[in-house]
Amino acid sequence: MEIKRVGVVGCGIMGSGIAQVAAQSGYQVVVSELNDQLLTKGLGNINSALSRSVEKGKMSPEEKEAVLGRLKGTTRLEDFGDCDFVVEAVVENMEEKKKVFAALDKVCPKHAILASNTSCLSIIEMAMATQRPDQVLGAHFFNPVPVMRLLELVRSIATSDQTLEAAKKFGESLGKTVIVAKDAPGFIVNHLLLPFMLDAVRLVERGFATKEDIDNGVMLGLNHPMGPLTLGDLIGWDTICFIADAIYEELKDPRYAPPMLLKHMVLAGKLGRKTGQGFYDYPK
Ligand SMILES: NC(=O)c1ccc[n+]([C@@H]2O[C@H](COP(=O)([O-])OP(=O)(O)OC[C@H]3O[C@@H](n4cnc5c(N)ncnc54)[C@H](O)[C@@H]3O)[C@@H](O)[C@H]2O)c1
Repeated sequence: MEIKRVGVVGCGIMGSGIAQVAAQSGYQVVVSELNDQLLTKGLGNINSALSRSVEKGKMSPEEKEAVLGRLKGTTRLEDFGDCDFVVEAVVENMEEKKKVFAALDKVCPKHAILASNTSCLSIIEMAMATQRPDQVLGAHFFNPVPVMRLLELVRSIATSDQTLEAAKKFGESLGKTVIVAKDAPGFIVNHLLLPFMLDAVRLVERGFATKEDIDNGVMLGLNHPMGPLTLGDLIGWDTICFIADAIYEELKDPRYAPPMLLKHMVLAGKLGRKTGQGFYDYPK
């Protein structure tokens, strides 16, 4: 199957990035939001990102206009009626995602592949909200989508070989390196990342080392671009806790149980950059 038209549900942090990269790669893209205000904000973020590329000389003003010309915003899911590949990037909530999948199943063409950008939720559960579970898979992009080179595809027990192959080709056409994981909690990357980040929090909790020494140890000793506590501040500790809880719920592996310090930080609103304070301070 040839993919020409791409749909993206949700134009937040991830959806806007996915829509931008797909339009930059030559696809006709339709991206949806809940209302006009959110849509204007999301499309505005894409416009700003493209303008920055023009300023840096990475893209000509004509290319920017061509990309924007391939991008259409909507608040109506019916506008996905001619999409070949749709990526859902709404909030990380199973009930919301199932509603989106059931609605997409009704409006999208029979051949269309439906993908979720979920960080940790079960793909088969979303797939069973549709009449085409063999054409559903996970397409886990990384933040920021235009910069990060990885696409982690997630194959459920029902995903067909054809769907996986078409999704691989699509991911590669976006310039991504594609890896494939089973539909198991955390897939590959978060399965590995979460215990590591939670261990960093446990080191602070037990007073084994300072936050600065932990981050410097990982950056300079392991050559990571940033330490785990800085990374958690960037992602948001509420999101980290949510993913950890979801994996723990499934595996009952204590490595995924959020430490008490983290739970208290989340309760206190110390979520990281987005609230101005996490392990570090981010004055406005
Ligand atoms: N932020 C990250 O670093 C990251 C990384 C990888 C994966 N993800 C996953 O991507 C998904 C989206 O995360 P995000 O960070 O972009 O969240 P976000 O809150 O920035 O964006 C979600 C957007 O979806 C919109 N939305 C909600 N319901 C909708 C609907 N029915 N139709 C259209 N739009 C709808 C919301 O208005 C919001 O703008 C989540 O599943 C998340 O787990 C996030």
